[in-house]
Amino acid sequence: MYANLTVVDHPLIQHKLTILRDKNTSTAQFRQVLREVAVILGCEVTKDLTLGKIDIETPLEKISAPYLEGKKLCFVSILRAGNGLLDGLLDLIPSARVGHVGIQRDHETLEAHRYYFKTPDKLDERLVIVVDPMLATGNTAIDAVNELKKAGAIKIKFLCLVAAPEGVEKLSKAHPDVPIITAALDRKLNDVGYILPGLGDAGDRIYGTKG
Ligand code: URA
Repeated sequence: MYANLTVVDHPLIQHKLTILRDKNTSTAQFRQVLREVAVILGCEVTKDLTLGKIDIETPLEKISAPYLEGKKLCFVSILRAGNGLLDGLLDLIPSARVGHVGIQRDHETLEAHRYYFKTPDKLDERLVIVVDPMLATGNTAIDAVNELKKAGAIKIKFLCLVAAPEGVEKLSKAHPDVPIITAALDRKLNDVGYILPGLGDAGDRIYGTKG
């Protein structure tokens, strides 16, 4: 369908996504389940990480065993909803470096306005995984990837929970080199830029800032 899109349709993810979509799910459960989903998505998005070798001794003998160098990996969370996914990703890879990009979308024009950008150094040596639960218009994702490339990032992936076809198309066109990994490809955007059926405003659902 889209050459650079992977939909991770593992039954556990699909089950947990149903809980996240349900408007009656509490803030506490939403946060917890999102964290669990992030761990599973994290396995998919890191499946091609390169391994080094380390010499260790098992109780029986010495071996040279595979070993991940966490410092080669950088998660970049798009504030604020990205932090809901970040927590689970750091459960999985505690040694990963973390960057933050603050981008707010204008509710009328749906354009992205960046107010914060802080990343680790040597981005060119790292796999940079941008995380935001919702890929909606694609404007935020494109702005974040533009800025990361300017800061030196070469190998970038985009990880989200729910994607809209409009966002996938726009991001793929702007950055065809960036693989997109999602748990679901939803139907479409509504006229104010929310994903249908979606799960509402991810930030509000994570932090309980509405209702
Ligand atoms: N951001 C959200 O949090 N939800 C959407 O549906 C679209 C963008």
